[in-house]
Amino acid sequence: MSSVQPCGVSDDERRPPTNDLLEIAQRGLALKPKRLPSWLFYDERGSALFERICEQPEYYLCRCEIALMAEHAQSVADTLGSEVRLVEYGSGNAHKTSMLLQHLQSPVAYVPVEISPEPLRQSVERLAVEFASLPLQPLCADFSKPLRLPIPPRAPRRTVLYFPGSTIGNFENREAATLLRKMRNEMGDAGGILIGVDLKKDPAVIEAAYNDRARVTAAFTLNMLTRLNREIGSNFELSGFAHRAHYNPMAGRIETYIVSRREQQVKVGRVNVPFHEDEAMQVEYSCKYSLADFAALAARAGLAVQQVWTDPEKMFSLQYLVRAGTRIH
Ligand code: AVJ
Repeated sequence: MSSVQPCGVSDDERRPPTNDLLEIAQRGLALKPKRLPSWLFYDERGSALFERICEQPEYYLCRCEIALMAEHAQSVADTLGSEVRLVEYGSGNAHKTSMLLQHLQSPVAYVPVEISPEPLRQSVERLAVEFASLPLQPLCADFSKPLRLPIPPRAPRRTVLYFPGSTIGNFENREAATLLRKMRNEMGDAGGILIGVDLKKDPAVIEAAYNDRARVTAAFTLNMLTRLNREIGSNFELSGFAHRAHYNPMAGRIETYIVSRREQQVKVGRVNVPFHEDEAMQVEYSCKYSLADFAALAARAGLAVQQVWTDPEKMFSLQYLVRAGTRIH
């Protein structure tokens, strides 16, 4: 059973409870090389830092995606059709969503799915004012797990899963295909996936986006350690670690690490975790795609790309996916 919290947000019980964090951290730190999951970035401070990343001149992703939506919202809304139930994966502050909702014809409901409760509550509060007659059905959950979507107030013609930000790029190919396959099930026969996909480009441009001069990305990365210290009582010393992000051209992805600046030991629960000098702990991949790469990934998940919106410089793309073999609807 999903419980309803005071703020009206359903809480999916499959969201990892805080007391699992210790186990998740210990398991990741026991791997060789050490690895922590990137969703750990998004506590309240991490979500706020990500918003600030989006304002950095080097981080083109948000800007490009917002510009794409500003330019093509009507075309996107036409493609989605009327009486859509819009489900957003990792909704954060849902700014781009407003632009889309303004153009949708009689949407049935908006279901923001977000693991971080505070941004979810704030976005719902804002949208409730902006779209007073639109039913909002927020779900506090981990979108990578099977979701129990709330029952819509009336029957939608289609469920569209909106997955912006190129967050799909945080998953390696295999997991990305698994996630898209899960989404394919959740959207149903007539459904679709509207997804933001970052494109391959000059590696220097990509690398700069993850190494901004103001060092907001570095703060965002290291905030993961602050969060662990607070929530599981580990004793990572922040000055002993550094952010490192580089583009791996063979794999076509940014690889972000937290690097130990010296030999040290960190207490994580009852476990002492040793780090040697320069040891790199992997915390995030951000995969970049050519249009062909992404079409192939979609195909692996039983999906076909029905439409692509992109900017003239081919920096970023917004793509609409449907079940393979169901192009007419
Ligand atoms: C929100 C996951 C798409 O990978 O570009 C930004 C997160 N990490 N800077 C990305 C992020 C470092 C971002 N996503």
